Amino acid sequence: MRPRVGARALDIGCGLGAYAAALAGLGYDTLAVDWADAAVSAARDRYADVEPRLRVRRLDFEDADEVAARLPRAGFDLVTMRLVLAFMADKRAVAMGVPPARAKPRAWGRVRGLLAPGGAWVVTTPLVERLPQERQYIGVTAEDVAVVTEGWGRGEWYDLDAGGVRCFVLRV
Ligand SMILES: C[S@@+](CC[C@H](N)C(=O)[O-])C[C@H]1O[C@@H](n2cnc3c(N)ncnc32)[C@H](O)[C@@H]1O
Repeated sequence: MRPRVGARALDIGCGLGAYAAALAGLGYDTLAVDWADAAVSAARDRYADVEPRLRVRRLDFEDADEVAARLPRAGFDLVTMRLVLAFMADKRAVAMGVPPARAKPRAWGRVRGLLAPGGAWVVTTPLVERLPQERQYIGVTAEDVAVVTEGWGRGEWYDLDAGGVRCFVLRV
């Protein structure tokens, strides 16, 4: 289904930009961010022809102050994170039982603040239990999922393949 005219998407941890470019191709006015300079330049080079519908910026989504200063509150209809959540310090903090800092929402709380009413967060992530031991660091546990999905109004999930990559669609 095509988005409505003017719908805005944010792709967090865009890497080389293929997913963000696909969103732009669907019609989203898309902002792609990554904390790695190399990823930002590669995505810009690869998809220069998709500008201005796709813009790529350097941004560390771990940095709550930077997120608040540079991204518009309630400014996106869709926020995506593909193969990124497991690398976030906030996710590791949950695994280690570290409580959240006061007044600084964790990554998923920051995503909620960026979504316009009716917006969705689409998180694609491997599940730990389906990964071989040596690659489990790139996955999430059932406990991680319970913490990350808490407080969202509605949610669905889909298994994308037999390898255990799951896609969660969460709405405020
Ligand atoms: C496995 S790659 C996935 C790239 C892309 N989403 C895809 O599906 O092809 C993870 C990406 O997340 C980025 N990343 C990790 N932590 C980040 C953070 N705190 N802020 C922004 N980007 C981050 C990394 O630089 C890397 O490009």
